[in-house]
Amino acid sequence: MSADAREMAALGILVGDDYWVVESGDAAYGLGVEPGGLLLQTYWGPRLPRLDDYPAAQRGTAFSMENPLQHTHQEIATGEAGVSDERTLDGYRDGGPRGFVLRFVSADVQGEKLSITLRDAVLEADIVVEYEALPQRGLVTRRMRIANAGAQPLHLNRVLSGTFYLPQTGEYVLNHLDGRWGDEFRMQREPLGHGVFQRESRRMTTSHGGVPYFAMERAEAGWGAREESGDVWFGTLEWSGNWKLLAERTRDGRSMVHLGINDHDFVYDLLPGEAFTTPRLIFGYTGGGFGAMSRSFHDFVRQDLSPRPNYRPPVVYNSWYATLFDVSAEGQVKLAEKAAAMGVEMFVIDDGWFDKRVNDRAGLGDWWPDKNKFPLGLKPLTDAVHGRGMQFGIWIEPEMVNPDSDLYRAHPDWIIYYPGRERTLSRNQSMLNLGRVDVQDYLIDMFDRLLSSTEIDFIKWDMNRNVSEPGWPEHDRDQREIWVRYVDGLYRVWKTLRERHPNVIWENCSGGGGRVDMGMMGITEQSWASDNTVPPARLEIQEGYSQLFPANTMAAWVTDEDLHEFSLDLRFHVSMAGALGVGGNLLTWTDEMLARAAEHVAIYKTIREVVSAGDLYRLRSPRHTDLNALMYVAKDKSEAVLFAFRILKARIGKLPLVFPAGLDPEALYADEEGVTRSGAAWGQLGIQLKLKDLQSTIIRLRRV
Ligand code: GLA
Repeated sequence: MSADAREMAALGILVGDDYWVVESGDAAYGLGVEPGGLLLQTYWGPRLPRLDDYPAAQRGTAFSMENPLQHTHQEIATGEAGVSDERTLDGYRDGGPRGFVLRFVSADVQGEKLSITLRDAVLEADIVVEYEALPQRGLVTRRMRIANAGAQPLHLNRVLSGTFYLPQTGEYVLNHLDGRWGDEFRMQREPLGHGVFQRESRRMTTSHGGVPYFAMERAEAGWGAREESGDVWFGTLEWSGNWKLLAERTRDGRSMVHLGINDHDFVYDLLPGEAFTTPRLIFGYTGGGFGAMSRSFHDFVRQDLSPRPNYRPPVVYNSWYATLFDVSAEGQVKLAEKAAAMGVEMFVIDDGWFDKRVNDRAGLGDWWPDKNKFPLGLKPLTDAVHGRGMQFGIWIEPEMVNPDSDLYRAHPDWIIYYPGRERTLSRNQSMLNLGRVDVQDYLIDMFDRLLSSTEIDFIKWDMNRNVSEPGWPEHDRDQREIWVRYVDGLYRVWKTLRERHPNVIWENCSGGGGRVDMGMMGITEQSWASDNTVPPARLEIQEGYSQLFPANTMAAWVTDEDLHEFSLDLRFHVSMAGALGVGGNLLTWTDEMLARAAEHVAIYKTIREVVSAGDLYRLRSPRHTDLNALMYVAKDKSEAVLFAFRILKARIGKLPLVFPAGLDPEALYADEEGVTRSGAAWGQLGIQLKLKDLQSTIIRLRRV
């Protein structure tokens, strides 16, 4: 490659001879074609000074009975020539060969986008891999399109979004998130042994059980990553259904990560001329530790992915915990009065407002106001809410149907089921088959009419069960396509409603954080992280959530759960670190509590800008229950908000210092007591807090 190719290269993509480097922020990702036409991944790590510094595309060397390809880093791993590693892509033709053999055809660079075309001449398949550098974010996106160029169906039985080869330093630690209901976003560190470590969802949603995400750090003593330093190789998937993460360590010491749609119970058929495009992988490398990784993701979500860039969440009141299914127009108006007095901006009526919804055994599917509860429809309530200066929101669960509903009685075949088998219910409900276009159209039409006829500003879209009997007997192709077509259908319904009602704000919920992922970040403004609102647990859940997702998307309500144990102040501080909401039964709150809550809401409105748009620094993890802290620093470094919490009874003695981070080292900052120091001094000298058990505080620093 020529030495001056770098200057000539389009921004973001460097081009050599059969060689490309996608540079983004401090990171670089290298690709090259070796003489035999294989597309190889040549580099993933910090940017290097010269194009010539990046390694050339080279096959590995043969070892004993193994083919050289076993030690060759093909960008799309296919198992060619007997390679026994996990594959990125797999498929077959009836009676024909199984597995792909891909050779380079062409490459095209347009601005910050690179696309590389490969072909399998025997299988008659064309593959296009597209990369986009997001230099402002330090991230790269990658997706792959597989087209059937033959005359017979092509069956795909694995289509991951990508495979990564980590530098061969030896050992790695995988950081990931797992969890379950009420316990989402649990941070895990897993040293990788030999073999394949697998994380996945088989539940049709990304699930409470995890997020399709990895962050790899080196395992050798002294070389691991920390919060604000060290090498991290990371990635996530823009997908809201079944997913699979494979972290593989081979016998010869290579480490790989594969991520994409789960191939469990999976086939996707391409008829002649058809193509399949994988969800995007969003990945990067940083030398700045997990904090830098998270800030890259946060900027990406807020600016690039969100359907409403620069979103500032309204203060929400949600009536679920107050009333459960016992909803009435008068009761809601009473709550709305209290909420308005508190400074709430968005009043949301949760479950229980629609036809025959007196408990969870009936009503899902019939999305019109219950006549007994709302004899005059929703208008009196929406008027009452709007009249008090608040916006109005509503809860729906479009993907579900109760057998006791008009919809189910009319269309029993619209659910996901196996003929002849029991239709397993969960929370007394079945899942509509959103793979079906008629079901999608029905939902679009139903909710379009609801949104057109009622003044609704906000929708909480819930999803409260896992799939069972994943059949689709009416489908004229392989039924296993349901795993993909359901999610595509979900996206279509949601995006169409968004397009038709662009002012509506959408909150994503799935029994708490059961479907929080980059796919959802692309179609919703905010997500309910968990049904668990008890402060110690919530702080850990929010820490896990914050690995990928920014605070302006993180709905966090103050509820009455364990109210006797945790003060209102503590609860508000936990929620104010995200998108503040209130979900307690305000009719039982004392005047003193309501007044205190109003003060917190007012303070939140003054810090909302920094929390929503600033850079997050996790100063001390909530797993340190004696004292934990996080802070948000405005992008222009003019101000910062620090949250600190003391949860468990600490031992006698001073609390550890908290060290503010992210400030401009030269600038002077003052706290609210007038203590003025340079940013560097705040960071070095720290803050000595005097919190008692179960106390918390917010500290604001302003540039002077
Ligand atoms: C789920 C949600 C709750 C609430 C209920 C309503 O559990 O997570 O917030 O909306 O459904 O049925």
